[in-house]
Amino acid sequence: MSNERSNWRLAEPRLRVAPSLLAADFSRLAEDIARVEAGGAEILHLDVMDGHFVPNISFGVPVIEKIRPVSKLFFDTHLMLSDPLKYAEAFAKAGADLLTFHIEAIEEPRRVIAHIRNLGVQVGITLNPSTPVTAIAEVIPEVDLVLIMSVWPGFGGQRFIESSVTKIAECRELLEPWQRLEVDGGIDPKTSQAVIAAGADTLVAGQAVFGRPDPVAAMEEILHQA
Ligand code: DX5
Ligand code: ZN
Repeated sequence: MSNERSNWRLAEPRLRVAPSLLAADFSRLAEDIARVEAGGAEILHLDVMDGHFVPNISFGVPVIEKIRPVSKLFFDTHLMLSDPLKYAEAFAKAGADLLTFHIEAIEEPRRVIAHIRNLGVQVGITLNPSTPVTAIAEVIPEVDLVLIMSVWPGFGGQRFIESSVTKIAECRELLEPWQRLEVDGGIDPKTSQAVIAAGADTLVAGQAVFGRPDPVAAMEEILHQA
């Protein structure tokens, strides 16, 4: 099964802000998405939380199904799930373009990577702040994206964890130029410079974009502080 957009690929990794839908107005999702899309965003970060792997529940397949037809953005789907394998196909069918799973939730990462690839979407791997890069080093060559968590997953609006900068630099060394390096949590104009300098190309931002009166100007500010 392949998602009909599976040939739709992001252009080469380059500096981008990926607004996190978790911080959008859930009573007006289509409008909020349209605003950042019109403002030049290419990626929408979708935080899926199961209330088990993380102490919060956000949204799931039905929401992604509903927003898929109203947006051309690349749906970068962050699966904060204890069992990503069980739900991957449903998210791919709903319109996800990339599925990122947590190494902490999985015994056999290669099995999850192969399963996601067979769904015709891109695959990412992510690690919590206390998980060392060595935990994913051997499977890095097999993914399209590594996501470095710079907060403990579960909530938006948290403080950036400074030690993430070292992990970003360490990870950059292990990635090929075509692989994206994404950072997620506490990103704003103050923290963006260090993560960009360390080698991140994709900056997830929730509160610093949708929490601001002008999300489009906010995205620019995050990128051009660097
Ligand atoms: C946290 C999520 C992040 C979060 C980012 O579990 O993975 O994507 O929504 O929100 P900010 O940018 O507000 O920290
Ligand atoms: Zn996220």
